[in-house]
Amino acid sequence: MQKKGLENYFEKYLNKKPFFVNREVLQSPYTPEAILHRDGEINQVASALAPALRLEQPSNLFIYGKTGTGKTLCTHYVTSQIKNVSKNKKIPVQIFYVNCKLKKVADTEYRLLAHLCRELGKEIPPTGLPTEEIYRLFFNSIDSTKQQVILILDEIDQLVKKTGDEVLYNLTRINSELEQSNVSIIGISNEISFIDNLDPRIKSSLSEEEIMFAPYNAIQLQHILKNRAKLAFRKECMGQGVIEKCAAYAARGHGDARRALELLRVAGELAERETAPKLRIKHLDKALEKIERDKIMEVIMAQPKQYHAVLYSILKTPNKTNRAICTGGIYNFYKELCTKTAIRPLTQRRVSDIILEFDISGIINTHVVSKGRYGRTKEVNLLIPTQLIPKVKKTLKENLGL
Ligand SMILES: Nc1ncnc2c1ncn2[C@@H]1O[C@H](COP(=O)(O)OP(=O)(O)OP(=O)(O)O)[C@@H](O)[C@H]1O
Ligand SMILES: [Mg+2]
Repeated sequence: MQKKGLENYFEKYLNKKPFFVNREVLQSPYTPEAILHRDGEINQVASALAPALRLEQPSNLFIYGKTGTGKTLCTHYVTSQIKNVSKNKKIPVQIFYVNCKLKKVADTEYRLLAHLCRELGKEIPPTGLPTEEIYRLFFNSIDSTKQQVILILDEIDQLVKKTGDEVLYNLTRINSELEQSNVSIIGISNEISFIDNLDPRIKSSLSEEEIMFAPYNAIQLQHILKNRAKLAFRKECMGQGVIEKCAAYAARGHGDARRALELLRVAGELAERETAPKLRIKHLDKALEKIERDKIMEVIMAQPKQYHAVLYSILKTPNKTNRAICTGGIYNFYKELCTKTAIRPLTQRRVSDIILEFDISGIINTHVVSKGRYGRTKEVNLLIPTQLIPKVKKTLKENLGL
């Protein structure tokens, strides 16, 4: 941009009132004032947990539903009300919430128990304790008084993926050893098939009660979005039909409220950056693209170095036919790249497996073509949007130290 142009841009930017009154309202840590369209589910969770207030042991509860359907929000809401009531009426109920997806909290059975012990105010020697002893410490600290403990394991599928299901077996059996207190477990998961893959004994005790959170439909998403948009944007900035379209986009996916809110926030940011007078549907379209691009970058960045080397080879292998790239050519490039970057080269077979994984994650698509009497070869087509390719190349280059 020329100097004059840039000056104009900044002036225009300053003269314009900001789009957002409160951007945080559309960000994920924000807790909304009102939870819409979840009365049924909230009542079910509340009635399942209410016995805790009479110090009667609630059944273990398994809450499931697709991502962004309000499982964490509603569970927090109900348990925070239980906390309030128990505090006011001095009822000994303790509630622990663990997000098993968080690193260093529930990566191993030991870490989970150490985390719970610390929450209970116990000190653990930095050198650690044997697993049996950490269980003992946990037992003793909750059993030192009469109390009802509710342990919420959010993203419980991640816990089992990382540590196996033994920890759940141990936790669901804990009550037979406790004398004064009781522990109820609430497991939350967005992986619907998770419970069916558990050991049948664990499955039956974890899902004494089950509550399903259905996806939101477009109308419900509209209500959720409207409530937040009111607080997030200046009223004049909201273009006609934007909320409706945003809800429709999210409902077309799988009724994910988080995604709907993210889409609205990113669209707002793009519109503001453009110094547009209003947030329009075209900004939603751009936001949709941007989110998609960011997701691709995220998937790529999460992969190990060998994968980066293979992807870089796919991107750099010349495609003479101007069509797809052949795997043979990719492997040749890859081997040269390994020499240059001092990476230990993998076999062609292993590289083919990595290529297949890229196919599964939607970064490329592959198909086998016959070359007549020269046999068959696999061709690779890139699915990364063209505008994103320079950025991907640059990032991979940096990562590979080229
Ligand atoms: N009924 C609702 N009313 C208002 N906001 C909602 C509602 N449901 C979900 N949200 C918002 O949508 C986002 C996602 O909700 P939440 O984190 O509870 O989903 P989840 O079901 O736990 O998803 P995941 O399985 O990915 O953990 C949050 O920002 C939450 O505030
Ligand atoms: Mg959640």
